[in-house]
Amino acid sequence: MAETFPHTGRSRAEIEAALASMHAGDADWRGGRVPLYVFGATAEVAEIGRDAFMAYFTENALGAKRAFTSLKRMEEAVVAMCLDLFHGPAGSVGNMTSGGTESIVMAVKACRDWSRARRGDPAHRGNLVLPVTAHPAFDKAARLMDLEVRRVPVAADLRADPAAMAAAMDEDTILLVGSVPCFPYGVVDPLPALSELALSRGVWLHVDACVGGYFAPFARALGRPIPEFDFALPGVASLSADLHKFGFCPKPASTVFYRDAGRAAAQVFDLDVWPNGRFTTATLVGTRPGGAVAAAWAVLTFLGREGYMAIAERMLAMRDAYVAGIEAIPGLRLHSPPDLSILAFGTPEKDMNSVANGMQARGWVPGMTREPPGLHLMMSLLHEPARPAYLRDLAAAVAEAAPARGAAVRAVY
Ligand SMILES: Cc1ncc(COP(=O)(O)O)c(C=O)c1O
Repeated sequence: MAETFPHTGRSRAEIEAALASMHAGDADWRGGRVPLYVFGATAEVAEIGRDAFMAYFTENALGAKRAFTSLKRMEEAVVAMCLDLFHGPAGSVGNMTSGGTESIVMAVKACRDWSRARRGDPAHRGNLVLPVTAHPAFDKAARLMDLEVRRVPVAADLRADPAAMAAAMDEDTILLVGSVPCFPYGVVDPLPALSELALSRGVWLHVDACVGGYFAPFARALGRPIPEFDFALPGVASLSADLHKFGFCPKPASTVFYRDAGRAAAQVFDLDVWPNGRFTTATLVGTRPGGAVAAAWAVLTFLGREGYMAIAERMLAMRDAYVAGIEAIPGLRLHSPPDLSILAFGTPEKDMNSVANGMQARGWVPGMTREPPGLHLMMSLLHEPARPAYLRDLAAAVAEAAPARGAAVRAVY
């Protein structure tokens, strides 16, 4: 679109019509045809989040301390409720951010500055030891802060391998990471063993519960086999959990928590040489939508533990039905039994690019894994009604797909 800046504005009706027509060309997420990016519980939860967001549409959470004190109270309430959920000990601290990436960048920054202070070396270049399955946000943080990243192969069960991670550490290692669950395979890393490793080596352990933070506690309570992963483990120094994923809150909303105030203080940016006065923020961003804070408070207090538990129960039943349907298709196997609602699966007999093309031709946005070649789904209740159509089209796409020919999957996220 080579457009010039409009001289004369268009009418509101024209704008609305143009938006509707552009929107109509997007993928059908409401019909469960988008396997990531969007999350849904019930229509009522979506409305409560949207209404609270719109009630605070113009307010800026940057001004929560001085102007919009109701937002400060709501953010403090969100943090306190979630620290209770994650067994935060007395003195634990947290704040809201714009998403998983920002939560991770801030946790890495806090870890770097805290580790430098402890070493008495303000220029120390540390390294981060991660399972290869950890999210790219850690590398993004490392590139911003000139840290080294060591990605370590996972074990045969596709979970982080604590022994291999221990072997990758040296005296410059400042951070270990485990995911709840990792995005590629949907499995939860062995956080109890990683916690012991972190304690024995005196290193910071970050739990990336961006996907599962607001799902795993309820799946555990329902008896699903998920290990302890939060501050109940003494080696966990920080934890990120996204409200805008399985917290079912409007974007942009995540949370990041620290075991103690000393670690949290290392996250804060504080500048005192500006003509306007002292400038201090806990977040990377300055201006933040007040709506996201109000909406998170509204959704969490609307659902409570019982509400999240009921949604988790439905999501797990849906997940089990998808798994049964996928495994009933000749040749298809899951890369690993899923811990929550991320599924990754494939077959060595078929070219998975060709299967993905078949799904795309039938109106589905295919998520993919490259290693091993496969399809990928991160499902919420948006995907519940789509199951019969998805499985029918998947069976057809697999049946008609070309045989495997060792071609690499060209998945781009
Ligand atoms: C495990 C994990 N961590 C972090 C993130 C980053 O979250 P965001 O896209 O909100 O920045 C994601 C995104 O899918 C993720 O799957």
